[in-house]
Amino acid sequence: MIDDILSLVEQHEEWRVKQCLNLIPSENVMSSAVLQLLSSDLGHRYTARNHFYMGTSFIDEIECYGEEVAKEVFGAETADLRPLSGHVADLVYLASFAKPEDVLMCVSPEDGGYPGMWKNGLAGLFDLKTSPFPFSKHNMNIEIEQAKEIIRSIKPRLVVFGASLITFPHPIKELVGVANEYGAHIGYDGSHVMGLIAGNQFQHPLREGAHTMFGSTHKTLFGPQGGIILADKEHGEIMKEKIYPTLVDNAHWNRIAALTLALAETRNFGGAYAKQVISNSKTLAEALYDYGFPVVCQHLGFTESHQVILDYGGFEQGRVIAERLQSVNIIVDCGVRIGTCEVTRRGMKDEEMLKIAEMVKRTIRDEEQPEKIKKDVARLCADFRKVEYCFDD
Ligand SMILES: Cc1ncc(COP(=O)(O)O)c(C=O)c1O
Repeated sequence: MIDDILSLVEQHEEWRVKQCLNLIPSENVMSSAVLQLLSSDLGHRYTARNHFYMGTSFIDEIECYGEEVAKEVFGAETADLRPLSGHVADLVYLASFAKPEDVLMCVSPEDGGYPGMWKNGLAGLFDLKTSPFPFSKHNMNIEIEQAKEIIRSIKPRLVVFGASLITFPHPIKELVGVANEYGAHIGYDGSHVMGLIAGNQFQHPLREGAHTMFGSTHKTLFGPQGGIILADKEHGEIMKEKIYPTLVDNAHWNRIAALTLALAETRNFGGAYAKQVISNSKTLAEALYDYGFPVVCQHLGFTESHQVILDYGGFEQGRVIAERLQSVNIIVDCGVRIGTCEVTRRGMKDEEMLKIAEMVKRTIRDEEQPEKIKKDVARLCADFRKVEYCFDD
């Protein structure tokens, strides 16, 4: 029994770490120092707001220290590292500001919005009415003038920018004035682009007028899997009140210590990392486009984020492509979204993106024998085992 689980994990690591090009935009890798904190004694411990548990003096300090680092990295008035995931951070936002029958405006899942926010997800749980942003798939962005009109007519209580499919900054500055006229709460789900925001290479939602920003800590941000909330003082304090005891009790302090160190890495190295992520995406997108792949938004330079989107017209056809790539150990989702965050963290640059594009072409277009491509994939991975943009050295 013990051998079974150890062996499964070992096999997984042998495959995904040593043999695979990991190009899922929701994933990243932690430095070994961050990983070490994740397996520290903190993972055994409890604290409670009312100090029910003794033995927490260092943990209490860790919580304050983590929040300070997060506030500094994101230029926020308040920070909270307790949400256990991006989804829970979204939940905290809605629980703090939404009432049944309120209108939530956000990007619909059909246009790449996060399904967890929509009718079958949290919006349904809170009995909210959902209203999709008018969206141009051609430009992969919200239609500003139409959105203004809709906001004026339906007066949404909550306006949430950000999405799961996100290649360009969303027009917060352009829409915040009209949304504020009707007293909307303006949020930004930064799950995907949190690391690019922290590195100052994407939009800065809080400076552009969002009251709160929330989401995952492990996509472009390279922390452990978890959630984070950044906000102005007024909205941040409301959300803090909501978290405990309703939505998070034990906040997993090993994760919070690990996240704090990842945020410190971001403070030092996040700018260079985020710049390289975006450069890598652009290079990969262009090379794939030149090979004839259906990369979206050529007219806009393809992407300004960690995502390169191939439009195969739906998940079914996307799955065919993703499975063929998996057969040579190139791992993407059925979107088909290709993410450059993890390979960038491993030190790959534009030159390697050209190699990746060529391997994708050999797999999908040339239909070359998988075994040969697999070997080339493993050879490329072998040169990039380290984790960069961290204090490990
Ligand atoms: C935009 C967005 N928000 C929230 C989430 C949920 O994040 P988590 O997986 O950390 O719960 C996702 C997940 O991919 C996402 O894409």
